[in-house]
Amino acid sequence: MGKIILTGDRPTGNLHIGHYVGSVKRRLEIQNNGDYDEFYIMIADSQALTDNFDNPDKVRNNVLNILKDYMACGLDPKKVTFFIQSEVSELTELTYYYLNIVTFNRLKRNPTIKTELALRNFEGTLPVGFMCYPISQTADITAFKANIIPVGVDQLPMIEQANEIVDRFNSIYKCNVLKRCEPVLPENEASYRLPGIDGDAKMSKSLGNCIYLIDDSDTVKKQVMKMYTDPNHINVSDPGRVEGNMVFTYLDCFCTNEHFKKYYPEFNNLDELKSAYQNGGIGDVKIKMFLFNILDELLTPIREKRKELDSMDDEYFLNILKEGTLKARSVASKTVLEAKEAMKIKYFE
Ligand code: TRP
Repeated sequence: MGKIILTGDRPTGNLHIGHYVGSVKRRLEIQNNGDYDEFYIMIADSQALTDNFDNPDKVRNNVLNILKDYMACGLDPKKVTFFIQSEVSELTELTYYYLNIVTFNRLKRNPTIKTELALRNFEGTLPVGFMCYPISQTADITAFKANIIPVGVDQLPMIEQANEIVDRFNSIYKCNVLKRCEPVLPENEASYRLPGIDGDAKMSKSLGNCIYLIDDSDTVKKQVMKMYTDPNHINVSDPGRVEGNMVFTYLDCFCTNEHFKKYYPEFNNLDELKSAYQNGGIGDVKIKMFLFNILDELLTPIREKRKELDSMDDEYFLNILKEGTLKARSVASKTVLEAKEAMKIKYFE
């Protein structure tokens, strides 16, 4: 069996550096080593509507925005099939059939759903569609028989639920139409979920605690200078804490020994810097400048590429999505036919 990779994001805003280490970096590695048969990146606009149904402009405006962010990072439409979820109606069709083989109780036990419900305060207004998005996500994956899903840790319960649906479907309808899949996580644990610059577990626009891929140098510097460090590290000579100190959390994700040679030659690696900081004698501005240099080196080419893309017509990007969507549709429609045959609801040749 070949390697079929599928992943996606909700188009609800610009990508930030948490997205970069949490998923984009892995996608670039896969794309650049070329070790796959198909690689799909889906812009999950239908899924974005499950909790933004009353804000269609936001979702719509972010579809091209997110594509441009991907491309600015180096994801290449010649190597990756980009498509729009809502334009592949086969995904909705499969979702409808999968709804029957998942219990409501199982959905309520999905840990990601649980966390999101707690965050979003739906109370009496919880849309049925929101609860069902793990099922629709299973449709996204299985329609392409994707077996490798690069995602963040928050998506692991989705993969687990997808595999349950695959097994149930194949067993109930005595077939082998759907394929199981495996997640691929970021390479180091520090990158699983990058906190906001204030230490809040979630990076979000409303909290103002993000660094976006397209932020200019000044904004990046300002955000880094605002980072939560160690409130008891008052004088440079005081011993400092590394745990819970956002500068070190970010350095864990972004810094390499090469960066030390270039920007901080007094140390060879992060372990050395950490122990010096813990012993006292290293000021916060110093480590913040180091982090800023690393981030700015990463973000400068992305920012420049994004500017170049912004000068191009929407038409160009819509064509990329149209081409990808046509391809996605033709693959998904084959799976739908096979699934319908297994469910004995295929009537005509
Ligand atoms: N739920 C994912 C997110 O919020 C987006 C997504 C939708 C996805 N369908 C998918 C990811 C299928 C992987 C595979 O980031």
